[in-house]
Amino acid sequence: MRVFSRFVSLSALRAEFPVLGRLAYLNAGTDGPLPARAVEAARNELARELEEGRSQDHFARRGELTDALRAAYARTLGCQAEDVALTTSTTEGIAQTIGGLGLGERDEILTSDEEHPGLLAALAAAQELRGVVVREVPLRELANEVGPGTRMVACSHVSWMSGCLAPAELAEVDVPVLLDGAQGVGAIEVDVAALGCDAYAGAGQKWLCGPDGTGMLYVSPQLRERLAVPRRGYPNLADPDEGLNARLHDDARRLDTLSLNAETVACALAAVAVLEEAGWPAVHERATSQAARLASLLADAGREPAPRDATTLVSFPSPDPLAERERLAEQGVIVRNIPARPWLRASVGAWNDENDLDRLLGTLFK
Ligand SMILES: Cc1ncc(COP(=O)(O)O)c(C=O)c1O
Repeated sequence: MRVFSRFVSLSALRAEFPVLGRLAYLNAGTDGPLPARAVEAARNELARELEEGRSQDHFARRGELTDALRAAYARTLGCQAEDVALTTSTTEGIAQTIGGLGLGERDEILTSDEEHPGLLAALAAAQELRGVVVREVPLRELANEVGPGTRMVACSHVSWMSGCLAPAELAEVDVPVLLDGAQGVGAIEVDVAALGCDAYAGAGQKWLCGPDGTGMLYVSPQLRERLAVPRRGYPNLADPDEGLNARLHDDARRLDTLSLNAETVACALAAVAVLEEAGWPAVHERATSQAARLASLLADAGREPAPRDATTLVSFPSPDPLAERERLAEQGVIVRNIPARPWLRASVGAWNDENDLDRLLGTLFK
């Protein structure tokens, strides 16, 4: 049996996720499988609150948990914890960044033509409320398309449609780059410095296998200085008791979401620990190599996947994506369709085994 770290085998990793005992779960691009111990961690927090009530100790506990989650997310992004804000979703981090830049009439945001509503919604708001011009170009062309009016590039790190990567040349452009990392962080190695991005928004519930309502936003210290923070509350303030004179935290906590409960944070933290114990390099390597294997099996069987990069998403043509998705689900194989394309998308995680891929292929070609 393949070994992840010195201590974790594939079967041990799979045993952490009860859903894998029943389903060929290939849907982490939507929501990852939940580890049993993460659910247990959430239950324990609620039980503590039930027994002890929620007074000073409870808030101290919430503080410890959020510090630990911020540090764990920073490790997944290859950055300092002080540069990571805790959010409730990728979408929230994107909205904070685009909204905070203070762009106006005729400023251009360059984006790709394969973005998710989580990014498009913030772009549409900038367009509608501030007169920002949004220009969509093919993902691979982004770095070449930056022009004199471009004030920001905002695009996927990994396309949710095709599994293609943003061009590496974006590290060289001289306007701020915001990467939507919903399909990046946890799935493939992320090093925000190497990517050369100024902001990176990610999800806790997808490739980090945490609960819904978790996410992160990396912002470089330089961009942080420039971002307005119109939405503020207790977690964002360095001295909340100073009333109208209260100042924002100097670090990324200024961009934290306004309230995160202990059970959600404990659940997210325990989920990340499962993957950290398996070892990030092994988790990334296994997921991307299994995805490549699936892509080649599909091509051999006449369902050539959409052009992709070395990521964990495999999108392939389907004669009737919705009906086929339903039929697969009835057989215990969970994938999703891509609304704007005639495709189904399989999300392949380190926790998936050969049998999961065989079940997908076997059901597709039955
Ligand atoms: C590329 C991309 N961006 C954003 C989102 C939205 O993520 P969240 O629910 O964390 O806001 C998704 C979700 O599927 C996604 O694939």
